[in-house]
Amino acid sequence: MNVVVMGPPGAGKGTQAKLLAERHGLVHLSPGDLLREAVKEGTPLGLEAKAYMDRGSLVPDGLVIELMRARIRESGGARGLLFDGFPRTLAQADALDAMLSESGFALDMVVNVVLPEEEAIRRLTGRRVCRVCGANYHLEYRPPNAPGRCDLCGGELYQRSDDSEETARARFEVYRRQTEPLIAYYAARGLLRDVDGSGGVDEVAERLSRTLGLAG
Ligand code: AP5
Repeated sequence: MNVVVMGPPGAGKGTQAKLLAERHGLVHLSPGDLLREAVKEGTPLGLEAKAYMDRGSLVPDGLVIELMRARIRESGGARGLLFDGFPRTLAQADALDAMLSESGFALDMVVNVVLPEEEAIRRLTGRRVCRVCGANYHLEYRPPNAPGRCDLCGGELYQRSDDSEETARARFEVYRRQTEPLIAYYAARGLLRDVDGSGGVDEVAERLSRTLGLAG
């Protein structure tokens, strides 16, 4: 099963995609995570992407498509692919169809996680991430046991540079302009399912699993 998880910034796509991938043996493909890794490693892609990411803009389609093409090829034979935050433009959506079909796959479903803007901004501005293992926390909703330290590995927690309120709102604006049109595009193809992203992590995970027809 090949699935796209879409939704506004902070809707909970990453949290849910990781859970679904672990529970159901799917490969989680997130351009956001891959780009942050490239920035951290200082690769040519990372150096080019950083300025776009810091101001909340989308990284150019060509770069993201090539990044995802390589990952899709590497995942050949997997039980299923779970795309988190890809595609985000119509050009990326066309490229995804072409890349999947090159590998003999097709898209089965697009899940749109729906969350009001003010709640999404609260989730983004309160997010903290472990510098060592990448685990995700929230100051209010999922606080670590010791302030500023990861429960899993003891690593330092930091705030993503694009999670300030100003940049989070800019990302929302970019989402409305460039990504929201994909909702109508996938609905017209009969692939879209809306899932309410409000409530606790387990509650949302349960809704998503049911929508995808996966037990638990
Ligand atoms: P990316 O990392 O994909 O950012 P995003 O889409 O803005 O999504 P986020 O990771 O911010 O939010 P999320 O929905 O995954 O929420 P999460 O689960 O973390 O992209 C970053 C940048 O990379 C982009 O701005 C762009 O520059 C570039 N990029 C990425 N993809 C691209 C593409 N395809 N094309 C071009 N450029 C691209 O949750 C957020 C917080 O809420 C966490 O603290 C979490 O613990 C908490 N939380 C989650 N669920 C719940 C819940 N149910 N209840 C309470 N708290 C919750």
